[in-house]
Amino acid sequence: MAESLNEKEVCLHLAGVHKYYGDLHVLDSIDIEVYEEEIVTILGPSGCGKTTLLRILNGLISYDSGDVLYKGERVIGPRPEMAMVFQHFGLFPWKRLSQNIGYGLNIQGRPKEEIDNLVRHYTSLVGLEGFEDNFPAELSGGMQQRAGLARALATQADVLLLDEPFGALDALTREQLQDELLKINEAEPKSMIFITHSIDEALLLGDRVLVMTPQPGEIRFEMETGFGRGRDLEEIRGSQRFQELRHYLWGLLKNPDRKPGPLPDEPELHGTVVKEGAGNDDRNQTGRGHGP
Ligand SMILES: Nc1ncnc2c1ncn2[C@@H]1O[C@H](COP(=O)(O)OP(=O)(O)O)[C@@H](O)[C@H]1O
Ligand SMILES: [Mg+2]
Repeated sequence: MAESLNEKEVCLHLAGVHKYYGDLHVLDSIDIEVYEEEIVTILGPSGCGKTTLLRILNGLISYDSGDVLYKGERVIGPRPEMAMVFQHFGLFPWKRLSQNIGYGLNIQGRPKEEIDNLVRHYTSLVGLEGFEDNFPAELSGGMQQRAGLARALATQADVLLLDEPFGALDALTREQLQDELLKINEAEPKSMIFITHSIDEALLLGDRVLVMTPQPGEIRFEMETGFGRGRDLEEIRGSQRFQELRHYLWGLLKNPDRKPGPLPDEPELHGTVVKEGAGNDDRNQTGRGHGP
């Protein structure tokens, strides 16, 4: 079922956001719009400010100029509509799984019965039924990250901010969780900003992929992936289109100073060179428009 994301409203909007740590210029005029129910993946070299960007979105740290808006309202602190998923799971080792999953709800002061119901629902949605009383150390990495995901989902946030959430997992578990994340998102659609070091993951999970420059981080390039909703990841992995885009993004990341060339041919999709290499003209400038 592929409802066009064109019809959705902008959910998150960053406009000209700059961030400094003392003299260190970390984010340079970041402009990003994320639509309701859209999955945006972000690729960028280490240290380019990806985590900083997510922490700003989550209202955990301030920014120096520009605007960060959630549905038109300025983000000035943590908001219940946004939830974060961390690379190293961020579970409390001394709390049982159900307590970890209910943590955000407890902080929000929800009634116990509601917490119990939500914890039950999301524990089951991520496939952890039967492990409610276990401590994190008794579970595999994949199971711990399922719990991290359930904890974020349980708050019923509109926006998930995921900071390399599958980066610490083995390849097979990672692929399973990629599949499951998309299935969960089909069952309960949300906007997501998903940071990753993996080009494959960015292409498979993103409706749109953004590429950042090395520090100070700027959005250098963005493209729609066009694989559509309800996508079959195995099929995509085997497709020529996937291989071409993968090769293209490798080229971009390996050559941060070079002007991005044109996308491999696909008339209905759009890529935008946001920041060029030295002294070049724009190309392929287009509006949005996701293929179904
Ligand atoms: N709290 C902080 N104080 C000072 N410098 C920081 C702080 N957090 C991150 N940095 C620096 O800001 C840059 C961007 O960090 P980060 O956002 O973690 O990058 P990424 O997630 O892309 O690897 C790095 O050079 C890092 O050392
Ligand atoms: Mg980081």
